[in-house]
Parts: sequence; structure tokens; C-alpha cells
Amino acid sequence: MGRLDGKVAIVTGASRGMGESHAKRFIKEGAKVMLTDLNEESGQKLAAELGDNARFTKQDVTKLEDWTRVVAATEEAFGPITILVNNAGILGPVTTTVDLDEEAYQKVMSINADSQFLGAKSVIPSMLKAGIGSIVNISSLAGLRANYGFPSLAYVASKFATRGMTKAIAAEYGANNIRANSVHPGFINTPMMVEATDEGGGDALKEIFLGRLAEADEVSSLVLFLASDESSYITGAEHKIDAGMSAH
Ligand SMILES: NC(=O)c1ccc[n+]([C@@H]2O[C@H](COP(=O)([O-])OP(=O)(O)OC[C@H]3O[C@@H](n4cnc5c(N)ncnc54)[C@H](O)[C@@H]3O)[C@@H](O)[C@H]2O)c1
Repeated sequence: MGRLDGKVAIVTGASRGMGESHAKRFIKEGAKVMLTDLNEESGQKLAAELGDNARFTKQDVTKLEDWTRVVAATEEAFGPITILVNNAGILGPVTTTVDLDEEAYQKVMSINADSQFLGAKSVIPSMLKAGIGSIVNISSLAGLRANYGFPSLAYVASKFATRGMTKAIAAEYGANNIRANSVHPGFINTPMMVEATDEGGGDALKEIFLGRLAEADEVSSLVLFLASDESSYITGAEHKIDAGMSAH
């Protein structure tokens, strides 16, 4: 028996990195999963490898009309949605506030934060039909504190925003059996992190108690728990997965 038997999930940013890992783990545990991403080629290939319980829809998470299309396609394929993992995100430029241009700031806010509002707005009606729901918003350690002058103000602000939205959703929809939690990863071995360490994030590595980056699958274990009914009394909470980085 799978830990997500009977569940219908949307995972955004699922063509690579942590989103890919979460989608794989969800399928393994019996869920039906709609993978979405801007990158159509890898997403289609991955969904085909994962079999009949996986589908892919191309989506820009910043567009409400894309969300409407993804929800309709998921319901048509699998029925009402019970899990949403708002995972898609970008690092954006690593630069000081004075040098951060307004367009870059807006882009980071839009992809990392506004998308999670649009996701909740679009998916909650389906969860209300199902009578149950779990929303897992991927934030960051940067959603709890600023870090070594890295990453940018925009990234920090976007990840604080997702944490606040998570609590608002938990408060509003708890009575409807819909839970919402935020996940705050430290340094995870994904293409985004390779980019980030090139940009100077490498200095932070010495702060990790376990002395290594996490593999994406280690984050999937936490996301799986929060998505499943095993976490039925957990909502409105922050969940750090950082090997002690924030314990200093
Ligand atoms: N890697 C880390 O160490 C780390 C740490 C803390 C938080 N995070 C967060 O975890 C999440 C996943 O990060 P990752 O490291 O797997 O990143 P990644 O760059 O490896 O993957 C992100 C995916 O999101 C997709 N994406 C980007 N913009 C999109 C858009 N507008 N619409 C749809 N899809 C879009 C990309 O195509 C990509 O497939 C992000 O929200 C990131 O901020 C990552």
C-alpha cells in the first residue's frame, strides 16, 4: 500500500531538480501526478517514464490562465485535486539591493511568490470538492532569515511572502480540511544550487552541521510526509530541512 494511494497531486517546476524528485516519489507512493513546468521537453519525457499515473502540462506558474488550464486537465485526467506542491522557483541575480534592477526584482517575486497565490486560488476549489487538501509551499531558509548577503533581497522577500501566504491559507481553509505548510530547504544539490555556489553561495557550506549538501530526495521525504495524511494535524507551520544551518 502506498502512502499517497487515492491522492491527486500537482507538482510545479517538475522537469528537473527537487520538483522532479517530488513527482517521482509521489508516483512511487501511489499518487496520480500532474507535472508542470516551462520546460516541456524534459517534463514530457519524465512523465512518459513515470507511466500512466503521471501526466505533464506545460505551464508558466505566473499566469492565471495557465493555472486554469492545468486544473482542468488534472481533474479531467484524475479527478479532484488533493495535493498541491508549489515548487517552481528561480534564484534570480545575486546582487546588492542598490544594483538589483526593478524588472529582475518583479520577476523573482512573480515566479517565487505570486505563483503560489495563483496556485492556491486555482486549486482550492478542487480541494473543496474533494473534501480534503494539502498545500506544500516551497520556501527556503531565506524565507526565515537573510543569509551572508546571499541571495538577493528579491529572493529573500519572495520566500518570506510564501511563508505568510501559507499561514493565511491554513487559517482560512482549516475548517474545510485543507492544510498548508511551508518547507524551508538549506542547500540542496540541484541545478539551481550549482548556479548559486558559482555565484558565491559556496562560503555558506561550512555552516552545514552534516558537512554536505542534501540530495533532492531527502527533501522529497519531508514533502511526502506533509502531503500525506500522516501529517493530518500539521498546518500553518514552517518546516526547516537544513542540516543545522539555522541552528548557529
Ligand atoms: N536548491 C536549493 O538549494 C534550494 C534551497 C532552498 C529553496 N529552494 C527552492 O526549491 C524550489 C526548487 O528549486 P530547485 O533547486 O529544484 O530549482 P531548479 O532550478 O533545479 O528547478 C526549478 C524548476 O522550475 C521551473 N520554472 C522556473 N520558472 C518557472 C515558471 N515561471 N513556470 C513554471 N516553471 C518554472 C524550471 O524550468 C525548473 O525546471 C525553488 O522554489 C527554489 O527556490 C532551492
